[in-house]
Amino acid sequence: MSVLQVKGLCKIYGGKGKMTYKALEDIELDVKKGEFVGIMGPSGSGKTTLLNLLATIDKPTSGVLEINGINPVTLSPNKLALFRRRQLGFVFQDFNLLDTLSIKENIILPLVLEGVAPRLIEERLQPIAEFLNISSILTKRTYEVSGGQKQRAAIARAIIHQPSLVLADELTGNLDSKAAKDVMDALQDMNKQMDATILMVTHDPFAASYCERIIFIKDGSFFSEIRRGANRQAFFQQILDVLSVLGGNFDDVSLTRN
Ligand SMILES: Nc1ncnc2c1ncn2[C@@H]1O[C@H](COP(=O)(O)OP(=O)(O)O)[C@@H](O)[C@H]1O
Ligand SMILES: [Mg+2]
Repeated sequence: MSVLQVKGLCKIYGGKGKMTYKALEDIELDVKKGEFVGIMGPSGSGKTTLLNLLATIDKPTSGVLEINGINPVTLSPNKLALFRRRQLGFVFQDFNLLDTLSIKENIILPLVLEGVAPRLIEERLQPIAEFLNISSILTKRTYEVSGGQKQRAAIARAIIHQPSLVLADELTGNLDSKAAKDVMDALQDMNKQMDATILMVTHDPFAASYCERIIFIKDGSFFSEIRRGANRQAFFQQILDVLSVLGGNFDDVSLTRN
């Protein structure tokens, strides 16, 4: 079953007398339930543009995008807000946790907003907190925990309402290599244990090496796709090879971590 289907997706910025810029051209994507997919490309290749379209916070110029068979463009603003809250989970580079809430309050916020009963919330929270190894920090505030712990809490929040699709944007961008490894291990566990469908945009070949397949874009167009075999280290090397052919600016890429 496809969770995400994208056909002929184009995005042109500007227009109506202003300068126009074609940021995405004819993008095709088909992500099945339970897949863990990466999107890579040099700076300016259109990754954020694509993620904004998938996150339904921006609209394509042409082409069709369906999440769970629903085209978000057809929804009214109210329905779209609900659709986003129920069908999507987000993990950001800078965590986006609320400092006034505890870690637990941050994680359960999507369920509280839905009016889910406290007992059910606890039942949902406990196994996820255990998978992510954050059970012991649930009562702490965001400023009392490490970056890696914050990001694992953010993953819990992105997944606790069992969304159709989790979208992650450079989620290891603010982490050191040990924390990045913990976070990617955790995300991989969530993908496997909860059959979560994940689409991740990243600059980081180490983070990308956890994906099952990676789609590379260049200048807004599809460039190539590679699939991981059994060995993550070999996949990491394959990713570096594509990046070197792809060229462009990858200023924040670490080529040594593995
Ligand atoms: N709001 C916008 N208006 C005009 N051009 C934009 C806008 N957002 C992005 N762009 C341009 O679209 C291209 C793709 O940008 P972006 O999606 O941010 O790339 P990436 O995330 O891969 O670095 C870039 O050339 C960028 O300058
Ligand atoms: Mg970007």
